[in-house]
Amino acid sequence: MSATHHEPASTRSKRSPILVTGATGKVGRHVISELLRMGIAVRALTRNPGAANLPEGVELVRGDLSDPATFEASLQGVERVFLLWPLLTAEAAPGVVGALAKHARRIVYLSSFGVRDELEVQADPITSFHAAIERQIERSGLEWTFLRPGGFASNTLWWAPQIRAEGVVRWPFAAAARSLIHERDIAAVAVRALTSDGHQGAKYVLTGPQAVTQAEQVRLIGEAIGRPARFEEIPPEIMRQQLVAFMPPSVVDGILDYHARCVKEPEQVSRTVEEVTGAPAHTFGEWAIDHAADFR
Ligand SMILES: NC(=O)c1ccc[n+]([C@@H]2O[C@H](COP(=O)([O-])OP(=O)(O)OC[C@H]3O[C@@H](n4cnc5c(N)ncnc54)[C@H](OP(=O)(O)O)[C@@H]3O)[C@@H](O)[C@H]2O)c1
Repeated sequence: MSATHHEPASTRSKRSPILVTGATGKVGRHVISELLRMGIAVRALTRNPGAANLPEGVELVRGDLSDPATFEASLQGVERVFLLWPLLTAEAAPGVVGALAKHARRIVYLSSFGVRDELEVQADPITSFHAAIERQIERSGLEWTFLRPGGFASNTLWWAPQIRAEGVVRWPFAAAARSLIHERDIAAVAVRALTSDGHQGAKYVLTGPQAVTQAEQVRLIGEAIGRPARFEEIPPEIMRQQLVAFMPPSVVDGILDYHARCVKEPEQVSRTVEEVTGAPAHTFGEWAIDHAADFR
């Protein structure tokens, strides 16, 4: 009998690398640093290994999720996968999920809190592709956990040029209250689901610890950078004209309608980050301190 047969399953799992997709992105980088801290081998999928700039010790593999054959090649010897879908349609998903079912055992999929289980047709193109991929994973026979985060705090990096230039953010809906989440907390839940048992079949809605108005978010960024920053409300129509230059009008209208609703009804807050990790989710103020350099 070979030495491998005497090894406990936990030791084998520890040696088999975890494949991280979206490895060079906002969530993936935190997933990787946490896995490395735990001494777990990491294989990172990227379209451009030369530009990945990931920590030493990470095994880089070139692959593209829109080309499932290149993805399948990255799965040799892999049991657990963090899957993120950076594409705008689910066209390539059957090939990717099929390859996962052939090689892997456990998958943690980064979805979105907009997905509604009770709807046959989702509200917008983004939740549509997430829902379609969730359904394919559910049917695949894999052990799965779905992470359904709300808006990322990092979406406010959009304001960085205005804050750097003038310390003023001209934007609609000052009073829209959102429970934005630190990308580090999404990663912390992902790592628990990848490395410990008891998360199989869970659909975790993940948010920050409180709903904070957009005006207050800007003030907290100012506090983090040590320079006042303020919100100056502009009419939604002006914002719409700016955004339709580079986004489909239906997506722009969806974003603006959603923020109008958050003025009347602050976004929900979930306690799942704390329940899963044992540590409270980071506040928006803490996120701003972590990202102060991006706004200076
Ligand atoms: N922003 C939000 O408020 C929000 C809320 C809920 C859910 N989400 C979901 O979160 C996901 C984005 O996560 P993120 O912000 O961490 O990502 P991100 O920072 O936008 O990074 C995108 C990652 O995807 C990789 N990538 C892009 N195209 C690829 C392709 N064709 N094949 C393989 N890899 C590719 C990039 O790697 P390389 O360039 O190295 O290949 C990069 O690592 C999306 O699925 C989004 O729907 C976002």
